[in-house]
Amino acid sequence: MSSGPPLLEVENLVTHYRLGRGFLGTITRKPESSVHALDGVSFTVHSGELLALVGESGCGKTTTAQTIVRMIEPNSGRILFKGKDITRLSAGEMRPLRREIQLVYQDPYESLDPRFRVRDTIEEPLAIHGVDVAGDGRQQILSALERAGLSPPELYIDRYPHELSGGQRQRVAIAASLVLNPALLVADEPVSMLDVSVRAGILDLLAGLRRSGLGILMITHDLSTAAHYADRIAVMYLGRIVELGPAVDVVRNPQHPYTRALISVVPSRDPLARARPQLLEGETPNPTDIPPGCRFAPRCPMVEERCKSIDPELRPVGEAHEAACILVGGSQRPIAERAPRTRRDETEKRGA
Ligand SMILES: Nc1ncnc2c1ncn2[C@@H]1O[C@H](COP(=O)(O)OP(=O)(O)OP(=O)(O)O)[C@@H](O)[C@H]1O
Ligand SMILES: [Mg+2]
Repeated sequence: MSSGPPLLEVENLVTHYRLGRGFLGTITRKPESSVHALDGVSFTVHSGELLALVGESGCGKTTTAQTIVRMIEPNSGRILFKGKDITRLSAGEMRPLRREIQLVYQDPYESLDPRFRVRDTIEEPLAIHGVDVAGDGRQQILSALERAGLSPPELYIDRYPHELSGGQRQRVAIAASLVLNPALLVADEPVSMLDVSVRAGILDLLAGLRRSGLGILMITHDLSTAAHYADRIAVMYLGRIVELGPAVDVVRNPQHPYTRALISVVPSRDPLARARPQLLEGETPNPTDIPPGCRFAPRCPMVEERCKSIDPELRPVGEAHEAACILVGGSQRPIAERAPRTRRDETEKRGA
């Protein structure tokens, strides 16, 4: 990891989707409501680092990706790229940065135009950014295909998407995002639409790319994928990061009750290491009407009365490891002192 400012800094990002009132709502003057998709999200990605953003469906992962690449305007908060605030840049001001920040979509069947040969798909971003595709560009296209694992590139360059497997299509999409030599790749569930047999190959490819200094934000709903490939993991719940830290710490020593529940349902090959699955009860709050206090409280197995009134922030719970729960974490002394029973239970659990 390099020193200096992080490649990407996301600070307290808030993105709400306004919902229409509908005909009946308009005549009854129902107040407008909005989906609180991101409700104060903060994290960083460094050059040469793979940060995995993990969470269940609807928690705000895609909204995070699309807000960072400025496809969606945030209500508030800041996005800094290489130390520069890009939150309110105009489309024109963003244009040069589009080379540096690339998005890889979930579905290569949708992201590739069926009428385009591989060379056309990869040429397109070059042409948009004014690179001479007949001169320097040709070499860039070939080397992007090589970097994406399509080797020898001449074998693929004239094919149409229907002449490629799902995994090869995703490699073409990745080559198209690499051709401009970006500094940051935002990959939204890059393997979830692919056959299980080719997923590891694509994930290995992405993880390998960080060796050349690329920073990667990889979105996944699968904690075991994150554990295997990421340097750090950010766990998201209902528009907030609830735990963030080195992958090994988050997986081996999860602090937030939500992360613990997620980990308890990850299948383990070792029957002795299998923990009892912690099935969460209760409902995820409606994202248009998030209750005060901890948003995980309605489903939390550790919930206490005060959780319903305190909205917890991320706080240190270890070396570069943070969690947003008032019941856990060494640095939250006053709270831990107020909860001796919970701490003893935790010690017993760890010792068991
Ligand atoms: N265009 C939209 N208009 C209104 N609400 C939206 C819109 N897009 C997403 N949402 C809502 O915002 C919340 C976050 O959605 P988002 O797509 O970011 O979640 P996600 O974590 O990517 O989910 P998934 O794992 O299913 O892809 C959800 O409650 C979703 O219903
Ligand atoms: Mg999504």
